[in-house]
Amino acid sequence: MSLRIVRSVAELRAALEPARRAGRRIGLVPTMGAFHDGHRSLMERAAATCDVVVVSLFVNPTQFAPSEDLSAYPRDEARDAAIAERAGVDLLFAPPVEEVYPGGFATTVSVRGLTDGLEGAHRPGHFDGVATVVAKLLNMVQPAVAFFGQKDAQQALVIRQLARDLNMPVRIEVCPTVREADGLAMSSRNVYLGAEDRARAVGLRRALDAAERAIAGGERDPERVAAAGRAVLAEHGIEAEYFALVSEETLEPVAKIDGGGLLLAVAARVGPARLIDNTLVTIPNGVPERA
Ligand code: PAJ
Repeated sequence: MSLRIVRSVAELRAALEPARRAGRRIGLVPTMGAFHDGHRSLMERAAATCDVVVVSLFVNPTQFAPSEDLSAYPRDEARDAAIAERAGVDLLFAPPVEEVYPGGFATTVSVRGLTDGLEGAHRPGHFDGVATVVAKLLNMVQPAVAFFGQKDAQQALVIRQLARDLNMPVRIEVCPTVREADGLAMSSRNVYLGAEDRARAVGLRRALDAAERAIAGGERDPERVAAAGRAVLAEHGIEAEYFALVSEETLEPVAKIDGGGLLLAVAARVGPARLIDNTLVTIPNGVPERA
């Protein structure tokens, strides 16, 4: 089947109606476009496990703070459509802003707790924008499964929580982070990096690796583990907005590393780009292993 582009919720619903009536499994991949191999991996996973794949392409203004890169955010719908088609996507839902937020729009979905730290602490209002638009997209498409990337670990947890809290009959599947050959996590924002910053940006992944090695070497003090990570960032000329060791479930900072799932998460500005990355570490019987 070839890719069809739809721009209104009415068109989207009409296009999905026959599949829904036939009981076919609908998968949704929400995106803001500027596709890279991370997005492609979500689409391919959806195509492999669902009968009909919808990708939404919407640069959601409500999740950008006034100081952020909304107007500069990379956009190339024709290129994105070609990538989506090759990945086996059936429908590209690319609505204008007025279709998603018509005049008089007055509702915000706000997830408490999980949004307090990490990105939430540095990007006020960001997760209200994400939760609101994702709740809307889930209601518009009503998929059986929606696919998200581990790259945005906090976002994935926030969406799991909102789907559960609002009784949405959808399964949230989180897919592994796709990286460049040198380890840099793929991101639409990597295009902001000049050659020198691009070379430095690998420091985020290397810092996470160093922290993980410290844990593997027996270090159990979160402050010292974070210091090992920050030292590697400094070697790359990068200062972290945060370098955090948190519970992978609650995202609360851990006081001591003593088993269970641990998320190491970093955010930093590298030149003009604000980048994030993370890694999951599980510590069974005191022997750390990468998840
Ligand atoms: P966007 O940044 O376009 O990302 C769309 C999806 O791709 C998200 O689930 C994100 O986690 C995933 N993704 C990004 N980089 C990835 C990588 N390197 N490997 C694997 N997956 C990756 O995240 C958003 O858009 C928006 O906040 C959205 C959920 C669409 C709401 O507006």
